[in-house]
Amino acid sequence: MLPTQATKFVAHPSVATTCDWSARVPLWQAALVQIGAVLLTLLLAFLFPVLDLTGDAGMRFALLQGIVAAALGRVAGMEPWWLPIHTLFAPALVWTLAFDLPPLYWLGTFCLLASLYWSVSQTRVPLFLSSRAATQAITELLPCDRRFSFLDMGCGVGSVLARLVRARPMGSFHGIESAPLPFLLSRLRAAFGTRPCSISWGDFSGLDLSQHDVVYAYLSPAAMSDVWHKAKREMQPGSLLISNQFEVPGVPPTSTIAVGGQSDSKLLLWRM
Ligand SMILES: C[S@@+](CC[C@H](N)C(=O)[O-])C[C@H]1O[C@@H](n2cnc3c(N)ncnc32)[C@H](O)[C@@H]1O
Repeated sequence: MLPTQATKFVAHPSVATTCDWSARVPLWQAALVQIGAVLLTLLLAFLFPVLDLTGDAGMRFALLQGIVAAALGRVAGMEPWWLPIHTLFAPALVWTLAFDLPPLYWLGTFCLLASLYWSVSQTRVPLFLSSRAATQAITELLPCDRRFSFLDMGCGVGSVLARLVRARPMGSFHGIESAPLPFLLSRLRAAFGTRPCSISWGDFSGLDLSQHDVVYAYLSPAAMSDVWHKAKREMQPGSLLISNQFEVPGVPPTSTIAVGGQSDSKLLLWRM
């Protein structure tokens, strides 16, 4: 069993879960809103020729389509941060088309983004990295005098594992990552690192958590409910689940650590 850390306790109000279709697949909803806005704008152009949205008026059409899309997004109950995206999407498209870039540029950009963000439309967990301060706080939770197994669920480019491997030589470190480019980078990092650390490609939902004494997750609010149920089913009594930043709806952590002295940056710990 891992040592219990002296930590600052904070109150955690429960958070309601959103399980509706739109909350799980907002990208599909956004695509429908954009298509709906194009159709409505075409209808407006047909009904009100005075708007003069045809021929060379591409940018005027795009601006009106953007406003219609934002309004539709609002009606569809999308979160407010989607509105500027809806408003600016078509105008930005028309603007960049004016640069007349070669098609390979768009294909290359698409492939790069797809290999970085891969299944983000389903998982709703993009790539962003733990800070050094967070990794330092995790290090202090790990024993230095005995063996233990640590898993980073969604290890990104492997930066957390690379630092922990150096700081805690007695640990055995594992990572799993579903996006191809980050997976490749963490594999390379592990291969050329000072000590071995195993990185696999895939979805952590298929992994057996009972093998690990400490499981670390830096994901997103959308993932936390599933992570909790999996951890509850599989993790051994006495093992530790750490979430960087994100709460489990309705399950207060055993303790919380403010990271780098900042109250808004925290590790949440559940002793299983
Ligand atoms: C916020 S990043 C955190 C990266 C790293 N753990 C860190 O702390 O720096 C989350 C990563 O989890 C990956 N991810 C999301 N859902 C996953 C899943 N179901 N299985 C495996 N990896 C996943 C994403 O591709 C992303 O790279």
